[in-house]
Amino acid sequence: MTDGTGRAGAIAVIGSGAIGGYLAGTLERAGHAVTLCVRTAFERLTVVDADGERTVPVRIAAAPAGLPPVPWVLVTTKAQDVGGAAPWLDALVGPDTTVVMVQNGIDHAARVRPHLGAEVPVLPAIIYCSVERTAPGRIVHHGSARMTVPAGETGAAFARLFSGTPFTITQEEDFVTVAWRKLLGNAVANPITALTLRRMAVFGDPAIRELARGLMAEVVAVARAEGARLTPEDGEHVLDVYGRAPGDGGTSMLYDRLSGRPLEHAFITGAVVAAADRHGLPVPLNRAVLALLGATSGRGREGAA
Ligand SMILES: NC(=O)c1ccc[n+]([C@@H]2O[C@H](COP(=O)([O-])OP(=O)(O)OC[C@H]3O[C@@H](n4cnc5c(N)ncnc54)[C@H](OP(=O)(O)O)[C@@H]3O)[C@@H](O)[C@H]2O)c1
Repeated sequence: MTDGTGRAGAIAVIGSGAIGGYLAGTLERAGHAVTLCVRTAFERLTVVDADGERTVPVRIAAAPAGLPPVPWVLVTTKAQDVGGAAPWLDALVGPDTTVVMVQNGIDHAARVRPHLGAEVPVLPAIIYCSVERTAPGRIVHHGSARMTVPAGETGAAFARLFSGTPFTITQEEDFVTVAWRKLLGNAVANPITALTLRRMAVFGDPAIRELARGLMAEVVAVARAEGARLTPEDGEHVLDVYGRAPGDGGTSMLYDRLSGRPLEHAFITGAVVAAADRHGLPVPLNRAVLALLGATSGRGREGAA
């Protein structure tokens, strides 16, 4: 398939923030024709990484009208914005399309299914990539370029799509554990940095480490009830990583709070509390953090506008 540029293949990336902009840049550099589907228009995509600064010649689309279906649609909005992406999906999804949900949290497929036909394949992707949008269309990569997807034919095709890019794609049989392991870290670093308005250096504070341990003990118990193979050692590993992380590093929830954007708390801490409720497990620390995030965002625990 061509997209009019004459280059083979066609990928649409919905969302032009940190993750969407960086993925679009790496895929374009590997030779793919990429359409970046944006909510807030800007003139050009610029990616800054270890190789320097580069203007990326992707096609920027501000509205779905006239866009043809493509083989790959990567959804990179925040989890709470998936519903708003429905008009893009209506235009871009055809009989040969796979939709990839590149987001944090769990239940990726359930989040998008109300906006897709039952037959459309949906691939969840957990991404490990520290990247920041410093201005509309300007993306700064701080480190890491890895994704994990469920093992299978679709996961293998996705891995092939990224050959020639800096990304390592891992295919994993036990995706439930992968998603909860990522959520374990997110449920600690995102709320603590966003609530304290501090960067990762905050994890040098002994009282914060104690709070982090308490939050993670609750998440591990809930994750295990959900079938994820996490142990208390996973929590210690996360704390170890955070203790060694560059102190000036941030999290996407911190960046959102600093920019006055809505927070993703309902799909991070909120997902932990909802799963705990399903299993009748006590999670008082995560529940308290969720209440604080809801009040901080002005949108309540559900994160509703
Ligand atoms: N940033 C990281 O380092 C990182 C690392 C790992 C995982 N993640 C996860 O990856 C996901 C994406 O995070 P992010 O940091 O890339 O978020 P982000 O920088 O806030 O970008 C989200 C983008 O989605 C766009 N968007 C929202 N609704 C839209 C719509 N209806 N149509 C088109 N675009 C729409 C936003 O548009 P506007 O420009 O109008 O705001 C924004 O550009 C999240 O689940 C996050 O937790 C992020």
